[in-house]
Amino acid sequence: MKFGLIGAGCIGQLRAKALAQVEGCVLSAIVDVDPVRARAMASSSDVKIFKDVQEMLPQANLDAVIVSTPPQFHEDLVVSAFKAGKHVLCEKPLANSVEACRRMVDAARASGKVLATGFNHRYFPQIQYLKQAIDTGLIGELDHVRAFAGHTGLSEFRNSWEYDINGIGGGALMDVGIHIIDLTRYVLGEVDEVYGFTSNRVWNLGASEDNGIALLRNPQGKYAVLQATWTEWKGYRFYLEAYGTKGMVRAYYAPMMNLLITQDKPGGRRKRTVRFYPMTMLREKFIGWQSSVIQMFRQEFTDFVRLTRGKESAIADGVAGLRAVEIANAVYRSSKEHIAIRLAGNI
Ligand SMILES: NC(=O)c1ccc[n+]([C@@H]2O[C@H](COP(=O)([O-])OP(=O)(O)OC[C@H]3O[C@@H](n4cnc5c(N)ncnc54)[C@H](O)[C@@H]3O)[C@@H](O)[C@H]2O)c1
Repeated sequence: MKFGLIGAGCIGQLRAKALAQVEGCVLSAIVDVDPVRARAMASSSDVKIFKDVQEMLPQANLDAVIVSTPPQFHEDLVVSAFKAGKHVLCEKPLANSVEACRRMVDAARASGKVLATGFNHRYFPQIQYLKQAIDTGLIGELDHVRAFAGHTGLSEFRNSWEYDINGIGGGALMDVGIHIIDLTRYVLGEVDEVYGFTSNRVWNLGASEDNGIALLRNPQGKYAVLQATWTEWKGYRFYLEAYGTKGMVRAYYAPMMNLLITQDKPGGRRKRTVRFYPMTMLREKFIGWQSSVIQMFRQEFTDFVRLTRGKESAIADGVAGLRAVEIANAVYRSSKEHIAIRLAGNI
């Protein structure tokens, strides 16, 4: 499959490294508004470099594009790619508004091509372990989910779009939070009711919250409580916990680990399993966290190819991208209006 990369920044470069490790996939073209950046990352003279996506799409003979620009540009680029008949993997958040996400999902449907959202956290091994523990019934019937994601906020950012409402479309919930919103929905299923609070007392970034707390509920009455924060002074970390009728499972990062507690019956004898990922910890210590991201992107690309071929795939599709932005925006509305927000069933 021939890929074009749109946006040769931090994530675009990691995406290119991961794609190079996927059999049958080749990076054929790179476009960036800064062509020096694009040229610097071309691995060979076979990779065509463009300054404008409208030049690249008709010329480069591509099957798919990866969109890794700041979120405010995702919609135009993704819709152009669908008009040119390409499959698309777009970085998270899918776009900076619910309306833009909807238009992207509609464009995908009209083109008959695949839209995937870059929710690579689904490919963390400890998340896969958690998902399997739920799916195989190890913790009994799922009752509720608890999730957290945070980092230190302003000191983390390299660009103003990362905390600008007109860039990313919100605050912590649209940034680190969007991954755990997706993960929560991944294990809990569709969410139809949202209640939440946001605050911006620490960084005072206007409409971009530094803390968001959400309560989500699915139509079966199973719920999740989650927090996304830009005031996690201990540094980047996230966790997802699932509680069931016979136990619980926790996926934590960093360090990457799992905790599983199971019982033969509710209230019965408890068995505790702790799982570490020593090779990952060592690799991250000596090579950096990017090594894990590349590994996950690699699996995500493999699943992306499967999705384009109509095969079963764990990758987040366009609807997952839209739903996550819808949930974040429902928290914003709930926080302002002090009401629970109902989300529509069908998209
Ligand atoms: N999956 C993850 O865990 C993860 C982590 C961080 C960021 N992201 C997402 O990845 C995307 C990119 O983030 P980044 O940190 O790489 O940003 P970045 O600023 O490092 O890179 C963005 C690149 O896009 C280029 N660009 C901007 N507008 C363009 C356009 N119209 N056409 C072509 N190129 C254009 C810029 O020149 C820059 O090189 C964002 O959507 C961000 O939210 C995802």
